[in-house]
Amino acid sequence: MSKISIFVGTVYGNAQHVAEDVSSMLATKNIDSELFSDPSIDDFKQASSVLVISSTTGQGDVPPNLEFFIQDLRDAAESMDNKPFAVAALGDSSYGDSFCGAGVQIFDLFTELQGKPVAELLEVDACETLEPEVEIVAWVEKIAEDLLG
Ligand SMILES: Cc1cc2nc3c(=O)[nH]c(=O)nc-3n(C[C@H](O)[C@H](O)[C@H](O)COP(=O)(O)O)c2cc1C
Repeated sequence: MSKISIFVGTVYGNAQHVAEDVSSMLATKNIDSELFSDPSIDDFKQASSVLVISSTTGQGDVPPNLEFFIQDLRDAAESMDNKPFAVAALGDSSYGDSFCGAGVQIFDLFTELQGKPVAELLEVDACETLEPEVEIVAWVEKIAEDLLG
């Protein structure tokens, strides 16, 4: 059975909380999902569809729990071979140019690796909402079928 693999980048737990809500919503639609917060390249290779939900830290940086994973993917430069993906970024526009920088980096990398984006990068601004899960759950609900391919 097909499922959505959700890769979570988080420092303080916001993105993890959002990912858990997304997973619960998918379950109500009988869509299987699996959360990865310490993923390996093999987890990524085995995924038939990829959803990333990640915050940004530092100055536009990927959270430490995904940092080496993303670097390994970049170094391996293996084609994603049209694997469907979507990226939801949690950020804070008060960081200016580095707003949602991790999401931007990940979206650009997957595009370079020839993944198939099923939606534009979603950027959720902590200055505008205290409930990123509301926006992200609704967005995933709309794109879930496309993600499953
Ligand atoms: C030290 C620090 C650095 C941050 N740097 C950025 C940044 O460069 N760009 C951005 O959009 N958000 C930045 N943020 C905001 C976080 O991405 C945002 O608060 C997010 O909701 C945190 O989610 P998390 O708990 O899953 O890590 C930063 C937050 C902190 C505390």
